[in-house]
This record gives sequence, C-alpha cells and structure tokens, in this order.
Amino acid sequence: MSARLLKEGVYAVGVVDWNERNFHGHTYVTRRGVTYNSYLIVDDKVVLIDTLRKGFEEELVKNIRDVVIDVSKIDVIVVNHIEPDHSGAFPEILKLCPNAKVYGTERAREGILKYYGVSGNWNVVKSGQSLCIGKRTLNFIGTPMIHWPDSMFTYSIYDKILFSNDAFGQHYATSNVFDDEVDFALLMNEAQKYYANILWPFNSVIAAELSTINKLGIDIKLIAPSHGLVWRKHILEIMRKYFYWSLHSCKNRVAVVYETMWKSTEKMARKIVEGIVSEDIEVALFDVTKDDRTDIASYMLDAKSWIFGSSTHDSEMLPVIASFLHFIKGSKAIGRMSFAFGSYGWSGEAVKCIEDVVSCVSTLYPSLRVIFNPTGVELDKCFEFGKAFALKMKNEM
Ligand code: FEO
Repeated sequence: MSARLLKEGVYAVGVVDWNERNFHGHTYVTRRGVTYNSYLIVDDKVVLIDTLRKGFEEELVKNIRDVVIDVSKIDVIVVNHIEPDHSGAFPEILKLCPNAKVYGTERAREGILKYYGVSGNWNVVKSGQSLCIGKRTLNFIGTPMIHWPDSMFTYSIYDKILFSNDAFGQHYATSNVFDDEVDFALLMNEAQKYYANILWPFNSVIAAELSTINKLGIDIKLIAPSHGLVWRKHILEIMRKYFYWSLHSCKNRVAVVYETMWKSTEKMARKIVEGIVSEDIEVALFDVTKDDRTDIASYMLDAKSWIFGSSTHDSEMLPVIASFLHFIKGSKAIGRMSFAFGSYGWSGEAVKCIEDVVSCVSTLYPSLRVIFNPTGVELDKCFEFGKAFALKMKNEM
C-alpha cells in the first residue's frame, strides 16, 4: 500500500499484513489479517508516529518516501508503545534518520534499549507534556497498561487527531483507511474481538484512564490506532463500547464451551443449551477444539454467564479446554455466573479441575456429572439444569 492522506499534512504510512493468522504467538487467530499503522506528520518538523513490526521496514520506508522523499528528513520519532509489532523496525528507521529526536516514556526507553540495544536521542516524556512541531503541538498522554506499562497516546491539537496506538484497534487487513469505508457490523465485531483478546485483562486501568481523558474534554475528530481502520464517523460508538467493556458490563447471555472425548459431554452440552433456550435466554455453544479461542473470548467478553464442560481424562480435564480456561483466567473478569459439567468413567475430576481454574473469574453454581453415556433421564436432568440456571440469571440481572 502507498502512503494515504488522512488530512492536510498527516499521512498513514503503515503496512497491511494480509497473511498473518497468528498474532501474539498463537494467542490470537487473525482470520482477517493485521495492519501495522504508522503515521507521518509534515509540519516545520517531520514527525513519525510509531514504527512497526520487523520485516516490514522496506515498505514503511517506501511509504515515507512517498511523502518526504528522504527519510533522513524525519526530525522526530514518537514511540507510543514498544511492543515489537510497533517497534521492530525502530533500529532500521533510526539508522536512516540518526539525528531524529525520539519521544517516549521512560519505561519505553528502557524497553527499547533492552530489545534492540539502541534508543537514539531519546527524550523522556511525562503525561501532560507537549511538543511544538510548527503550527501543530503534540500532547502526550500517559496510558500505562493500554497496552503495556510504557504505553501513551499522542494527541495533535491542531488536527484533533488522537494517535492511540493499541487502543481502539482491530485486526482487520483492508485497503481502506477509514471506519466508514467498511461494513460497520464487521468492524465492531473485529473491535470487540481485539478488545477481548488484547485489552480485557486491563479493564480497571482502561476505565480509569478513559475517564481521565474524557475529563480533559479534548475534541477528537479522528482516532488513529496502530491496528486497523481510523475512526472518523463512529468515534462515539467505539468510545462508548470501550467504557462498556472496561466496566465489565454484560448482556444476559450464555457461552457454553466444552471439549468431549466420546460425545457424552457434548450430549450434555446440547441439553443444557436447550434448557437455557427454553427460558428465552440467548446462548452460544462452542466446541473448543473446533472454534477459535479468539472468537469464543470475544463472545464471552460481555456474556453474563459461562458454562464449561469436559470429559475426564487421566484425572484431568481435556487439554484443549484446559488451555482455553487458563487463557480466560487471564481476563480477570468479574461478575460472571458459571458452572461446570462433564462425563467420566470412574473418577471424574474434570469438573473440579474446571472449577479450580474459573472460580477466580466467576461465581460458581453446583456442577453436573454423568458416568459414561448419559441416559434419557440424565439428559432430562441436563435440560433442567440449564433451565434452572437460566432462571437464576433472570433473577440476578
Ligand atoms: Fe499492537 Fe501492544 O502491541
């Protein structure tokens, strides 16, 4: 992709990685690919907002040259966040503009040095500091833990653009630039998936930091994140969603997630779902070996209740759901209702194993176990369990 004009003097110079399918190691399945966004501001000084992932330097340099011909003309590099998807190209870019001043937090400076052994002419910024680059002034807003301790936002007062790095991102490879150029439902789906899989564990700080930014009363015409589309039409919607998610808000719906060996646990899962549906509660059933954990987490983000099932295998729950539950435990969710179920042959530890993991992120209700294959009577009991649980939900909402 070439450089794209966002508004007079401000360009998107990042890259689209159409083929990335596993982001963050294997924690995030990115079926729509990924973008690594960098931005170039041309004023009296030329400013590069963030670099990007190692391996894409050549395309970044080409895009910068679309705008300023000579990369050495960059006067300032702003490092909003040091995770390698935003800093991997930093050493190579720095070589091309060695006199550039670098602006970022002290934690970012320490991290960049540890990662790459270079930090350039680094200027430590604290939240609230600003930098005049001509007719524009850039304000730096500390946002530790959105996404890492080093993170900050950069706000261009003149342009009313918030460069938010990871916040408000989506993993969505597209040739479009702005939110109103793509399908809105699809965009919000990717934004929710991104929040659930990247930012969910940091809800408490996100809520506090967004409130602080809100109190600053800054006028935002564009939010330019470092992944995905730039928000210009739907800023209010994504802001509201971030407040909603960060406050652990939930819908009255249920995720039933299971892993099964010989389909007995699956039969139980289906009957539990039928019981929940009989009370007109929304529910989704996920076979954790077939559905992407990324999508399941996205559904669970604002689901009031989570129900987990596993057959017992070697005195443990099955391995794929074990991995998934440890992933979900990291969400540090609160206010969820949950119970465990599963089939077993002789010892039946899976249910207890599930409860041990999820008790710290949900309130547990009585569990349900069945030996070998569930009988008709036992399946009826599964139905009643689901129905009774749905009634509890109605009473608690
Ligand atoms: Fe997109 Fe925390 O990196």
